[in-house]
Amino acid sequence: MRFYAPKGTTDILPDMAKKWRYLERKASDLFEKYEYEPIVTPIFEHTDVFQRAIGTSTDIVQKEMYTFEDKGGRSLTLRPEGTAPVIRAYVDNNMNQMPQPVKLYYTGPMFRYERPQAGRYRQFFQLGVEAIGSDDPAIDAESILLMIDYFRSVGLKELTLYINSMGCENDRPKYVELLKQYAIAHEQELCKDCRKRVELNPLRLFDCKEESCRRVMEHAPKITDYLDEDCKNHFNAVRRYLDMQGVQYIIKPELVRGLDYYTKTTFEVVSPLLGAQNAIGGGGRYNKLVEEFGGPPTPGIGFAIGLERLTIAVEKEGAFVAMEEKTDAFIAVADKAVKEPAVNLLYALRGAGIATDIDYTGRSLKGQLKYANKKGFRYTIFLGPQELETGIVQVKDMKTSEQYAIKLNELVDWLSNIVKSQTMGSGVTKQS
Ligand code: HAM
Repeated sequence: MRFYAPKGTTDILPDMAKKWRYLERKASDLFEKYEYEPIVTPIFEHTDVFQRAIGTSTDIVQKEMYTFEDKGGRSLTLRPEGTAPVIRAYVDNNMNQMPQPVKLYYTGPMFRYERPQAGRYRQFFQLGVEAIGSDDPAIDAESILLMIDYFRSVGLKELTLYINSMGCENDRPKYVELLKQYAIAHEQELCKDCRKRVELNPLRLFDCKEESCRRVMEHAPKITDYLDEDCKNHFNAVRRYLDMQGVQYIIKPELVRGLDYYTKTTFEVVSPLLGAQNAIGGGGRYNKLVEEFGGPPTPGIGFAIGLERLTIAVEKEGAFVAMEEKTDAFIAVADKAVKEPAVNLLYALRGAGIATDIDYTGRSLKGQLKYANKKGFRYTIFLGPQELETGIVQVKDMKTSEQYAIKLNELVDWLSNIVKSQTMGSGVTKQS
């Protein structure tokens, strides 16, 4: 009997997981520079949380949620996205009483029952941020600039940023009515799903991938032509902030995104290095969501990046070479008789903060060297009875093949200095 990972999920093996950790580390470092703080919310929530926030006529709620009943008869759903849980937590924990805006970031798995293909999975990981408690267009720009800054920090060069404004409760109903009339006039050209959408939620017509529906929607009225003064001014201010930072963008009036909670600014970044699933991150403003969850009227904005798509793009860009090299060591034990002192040395090195390992399978010395080479250890330390007697060990730099004779009682300091100089970016200086 053999088991396989469920359809649409993958095991992230060490080589890939290291890349993910690197991308996550870069993200948390940068997000914290922008003064966002970490938050962790449950992986499942009451189903209503998502129905209410994302909207019952969206594809996510209609077709893609992993919903189940627990033993207590509650309807729970594996989170398909991170914004609704964060806002639920904001209201639940009275975070409106904290200094505003509350700026949060998160990372973790999300679940959507979609048709799997390259860049689209049923369990996927997001890096996201939410800034709750400000309607200042400068914070919209901050959200967009943070996303772009992050992509650049991990070496992505070719990106396209799309922005839009979806209006608000003052101007959107008028626009949606117009859109509905337009769609009714073209009903014959729309697919079965879209005909339902005309009545339910005409904005969702923009989500359809059917060629005929897309053709119709290309000529649909544009929301940006119907914004009221406030939304127009807000959008123009966001654009000015982006212009000031020299960030290029394309205004895409049909960028309504697949979630109902958006108001005013929406944005998305696509990468030409990806295939059909080319949206690497997206976000927008949601000024009604806190209220929807029973909190006081509180605006908010944020974005999320798909970690799998990001990894593919960074890989294609060849930018993982920038990942910090690890300075680690392997202790090759030349004789079983010195295993105990070797284990002592192992813990002395680890205690000094040096990543170190030793053989646990009884390999020959040759076998140990082969293993150290395969695993990519930077240094190999040879320890045998003779080294113990003379108090001098041979250390081989596996990258440069240089060999050093180091006093055993100075080895920890010697390697610590190398680690320190490498983390400070000054590289290894040859020592003997
Ligand atoms: P979203 O556009 O649905 O937005 O997802 C954000 C990103 O997650 C996408 O751009 C994509 O990279 C990735 N993604 C989405 N679905 C999948 C999938 N099935 N497989 C792989 N990657 C996927 C949101 O989730 C919003 N919560 C973003 C946000 C935060 N808006 C405001 N704050």
